[in-house]
Amino acid sequence: MATNRTFTMLKPDSVENGYIGAILEKISAAGFRIAAMKMTQMTVSDAKAFYAVHSERPFYGELVEFMSSGPIVAAILEKNNAVEDFRVLIGATNPADAAEGTIRKLYASSMGENAVHGSDSDENAAIEGAFHFSGREIF
Ligand code: RTP
Ligand code: MG
Repeated sequence: MATNRTFTMLKPDSVENGYIGAILEKISAAGFRIAAMKMTQMTVSDAKAFYAVHSERPFYGELVEFMSSGPIVAAILEKNNAVEDFRVLIGATNPADAAEGTIRKLYASSMGENAVHGSDSDENAAIEGAFHFSGREIF
């Protein structure tokens, strides 16, 4: 995957609350092109593997349980400076600290249920995109 791509998931709370359309609209309006997208649900073992980097953190069990609790929308997004710009668009991890107009400020309810995931580096964007999509699902 090129370095102008990032990976996102609209988390189970976004899907459950009916925010898929509104969040995709924000993403589009910010200039991201959708290179891949699907609705899917992670198993517990998928979520453990996806968030393995956090396995020693106290919130890991809760995170795995939440991320496997319902369907998500996974997507690969393309734009210049995608990783950094997408992190700005989604806002701080804790919605209480997120800037006005950011996706987490608008649509997240708590630190745990914070509406969206965004990759934190080009390297992780490539790993996370490949976790969810095969080559022929990326355009
Ligand atoms: P994400 O990976 O989902 O885009 O979120 P992030 O980079 O902003 O935050 P990260 O540190 O990678 O944490 C991953 C997810 O774990 C949950 N979390 N809970 N209760 C807590 O203290 C806590 N800290 C993190 C959040 O759902 C966060 O998005
Ligand atoms: Mg993260």
